[in-house]
This record gives sequence, C-alpha cells and structure tokens, in this order.
Amino acid sequence: MRAPREVLGALLDGDDVVRRSDEAGEIAVRVAESREGTDAGHRLDDNRPVRIQAAVLEAFGAPLEVQEVELAEPRPGEVLVRLEACGVCHTDLYTASGADPSGYAPTVLGHEGAGVVEAVGDGVASLAPGDHVVTLFSPQCRECVHCLDERTNLCLAIREQQNQGYLPDGTTRLSRDGEPIRHFMGTSTFAEYTVMPEIALAKITADAPLDRACVFACGLSTGLGAALNTAKVRPGSTCVVFGAGLVGLGAVAGCRLQGAERIVAVDLSPERLELARGQGATDALVAGPGTVERILELTRGFGADYTFEATGLVAVMRQAVESARMGWGLATVCGVAGKGETLDVVPRFLITGRRVAGSSFGGVKGRDQVPQLVDRWLDGEIDVEPLISHRLPLAEVNRGFELMEAQDGVRSVIVFDS
Ligand SMILES: NC(=O)c1ccc[n+]([C@@H]2O[C@H](COP(=O)([O-])OP(=O)(O)OC[C@H]3O[C@@H](n4cnc5c(N)ncnc54)[C@H](O)[C@@H]3O)[C@@H](O)[C@H]2O)c1
Ligand SMILES: [Zn+2]
Ligand SMILES: [Zn+2]
Repeated sequence: MRAPREVLGALLDGDDVVRRSDEAGEIAVRVAESREGTDAGHRLDDNRPVRIQAAVLEAFGAPLEVQEVELAEPRPGEVLVRLEACGVCHTDLYTASGADPSGYAPTVLGHEGAGVVEAVGDGVASLAPGDHVVTLFSPQCRECVHCLDERTNLCLAIREQQNQGYLPDGTTRLSRDGEPIRHFMGTSTFAEYTVMPEIALAKITADAPLDRACVFACGLSTGLGAALNTAKVRPGSTCVVFGAGLVGLGAVAGCRLQGAERIVAVDLSPERLELARGQGATDALVAGPGTVERILELTRGFGADYTFEATGLVAVMRQAVESARMGWGLATVCGVAGKGETLDVVPRFLITGRRVAGSSFGGVKGRDQVPQLVDRWLDGEIDVEPLISHRLPLAEVNRGFELMEAQDGVRSVIVFDS
C-alpha cells in the first residue's frame, strides 16, 4: 500500500496515465498469448483467464450485449469475486446512454454487486475465499489523508485509475480477443465474476441474502448515510426528503433510525409515497410548484431542521434549500445533476443560517460501515424487501433499464445462477 503523499503525487502526474494506458496494451497481448490452448470454463487453478458471461456496453445509446469475455486472475492486492446479484442503477443507464461525458466503451457496466470471494491475489490480508462481499465504487484504503479523516469518505487511493476504467496498477483484467475491456466504476458487476481491488470490497456477514445485500452497494447506503453521516440528524427533528427512489427511501429510513420525530416525503408518485410511509415517513406530499409553501405550513412557518434532495433535479435542490429552517436548517444534496447545470440559491437563505451539504455515497466509509448497515438490516431496523421489485437473469439486463425508465418498481436486481 502506498503512502498518502505518493498517492497524491500519482494523482497529479499526467504522464502516469499515459504510461498506464500503454501497460494496458501490453497486458492485452499477454492475455491473448496465455489464451492459446485454453479451453472454455471457469477454471481458477492456473494462470489463464477464465471466460465469463458479461453485459458489455459496446456503443453509447445501444442496448448492452451479453456475451463471453475473458477475465484474468487477480494480481497483488486484487480479489476475484463470483457475483450472486447486482442492482440496476441510474448511473449504469446514464453511462450507457452516452449522457455521461466521462463515459467510455467498451466496458462491462454494473456497480451494485454482491457476491462471494473466489480467489485472492498476493498480499490480500482482509479477505479470503468464501467471504461474502458487497462491491464499493467508493473504496476505503484506510491510509490516505481522506480515509484518515472522519469528515469524508472520498478515498484518494485509486480515483484517477478508476475514473479511466483501470484497476489500480493501470491495466485491465477484462478482455475480449486480446483487446482490453475497461472496468466501469472499478466494479463491472454485470458479470458472472469480477476482479476488484481489496480496498473496494466490504466483507459482510454470510447470513445476509446477497440478492438483497446488493442494494447496499449504492443507492440504499447513499440515502441512509446522507441522514446518518452527512446530516447527522438529531433525535426529535423534522426532516423532509425530496424524491422517494432508492436513495430517498434510504434517507427516510436513515432519518427514522436517527430518531427524527417528523419525516415528510415528497414525490410525484403516490405509489412511491406509500413506500416512503413504509420506511418511516410520517407525512407524504405530492410534489408540485407549491411544495415549499406547504412544507412551511407544516412547520409553523419555519421550515425543516434537515432536508434531503434525492431527485437529481436542480429545481428540487433549490426547494430543499428554501424549505430548510432558518438558524440551522441543513439541506443535503444527494442527486446527480445534469452536465453544466447549476444550483440557484438566494444568498439571504444562507446568511440567515441555512447550510447546504453534498453527499457522495452518503459519506459512508464502505469497508467499515456497509457491514454495519447490513447488520442493522438483519436486526430488523431496515426493511429492504419492498425496495426490490424485479429479479432478472443477466440476459435481461436491458429490461432492467426499461423497468427503471418506466419507474416500474424501485430496484431491479440481476440474479446470477450459482
Ligand atoms: N450521491 C451519490 O453518491 C448517489 C448515489 C446513487 C444515486 N445518486 C443520485 O441520486 C438521485 C436519486 O437516485 P434514485 O436511484 O433514488 O432515483 P429514482 O429515479 O429512483 O428516484 C427519484 C425520485 O424523484 C421523484 N421526483 C421527480 N421529480 C420530483 C419532484 N419535482 N419533486 C419530488 N420528487 C420528484 C421521482 O418520482 C422518483 O421517485 C439520482 O440523481 C442519482 O443519480 C447519487
Ligand atoms: Zn448507483
Ligand atoms: Zn483512502
């Protein structure tokens, strides 16, 4: 593991990235060479790549293509995971559509994975074959300046490489006919197996059913963490959550776990508002232009102690700021806005004591906190089942996108045959 100073140096060194791309080419040649004489199958007892089924983004705007690709064995510090389940999230669709300016193809999408460790590379000490894990697009190295500070979960260790679709050593384990395929969000979990850095896997109890545990890999932990870590909601408070998708429903549950007295859910969909009640919302509002006024009415003209935005819409982010209470109201922004969009805030709202915070993965330090959240679920504190609406085989991953676009259910989960 490198020291924080060296990590920062690597992040700032542009040439480094070019060198890493060259290495990716080299490894592709080596993978191609090692392929000769390999028969198909999931053999892990030699140094050859295994062939796996994976959903590949070939071209932006086109459906994912489920096909056979090659996966090389884990290198030092890496882990081979057999996926059991993976949620279908907006970020996968955002990249697949081409809307994400930093997207790349070909790549294997998927980042809400849960599975079982199959093999570990040299130097991996915290995980062993048979361990159950949740994948982390937001890793935790436990050594960098951010990991050592309680104020943030934004680990610096592998950001640059991960953003470009490489594993920490700047190469890929995925390939097809000798051509490298990049790793999406450092996870690539729309696949039977994946290779990931040890620091990007949270070891959870083997008691947790993996077809539900996977939602802790992204949306649910994001919402829960926004209330627990970012806002640190105080008992007895009044909270408002805008948006009742997986993130917003997680925020509702998080406010409840923190002992909030009143939790107002706001959404366009009556079905989703009903789900919010199931997670602990005490009031439900159908969203509209008068939403801020209605929240002020509900709070004797003051606004809420804590508001959460979980829609990705900048107009709603503004509503979240304006419906926070003067003096100490905190608006937490979870949604990802479109490229180039800005949040409009009248400065008077800030002068009079309101604050705005952003929250990435709910401020959750994944290796430490995801296992704790999973335990709270198994203890009956969080109700996960109503959040999962469809279970699909990998071959139907594009249907998962269609269901999401139609807002049919909260989460579709890809389930792999063991
Ligand atoms: N910060 C992070 O780390 C992180 C992680 C995951 C997702 N996200 C982002 O969080 C956001 C929510 O994700 P999700 O999976 O819950 O999405 P989702 O689409 O399932 O839920 C969004 C909800 O907002 C509702 N909505 C739409 N317009 C509204 C309005 N005017 N007022 C109130 N509600 C309205 C929709 O009806 C829907 O129920 C997205 O922008 C997503 O990209 C952020
Ligand atoms: Zn996600
Ligand atoms: Zn770190």
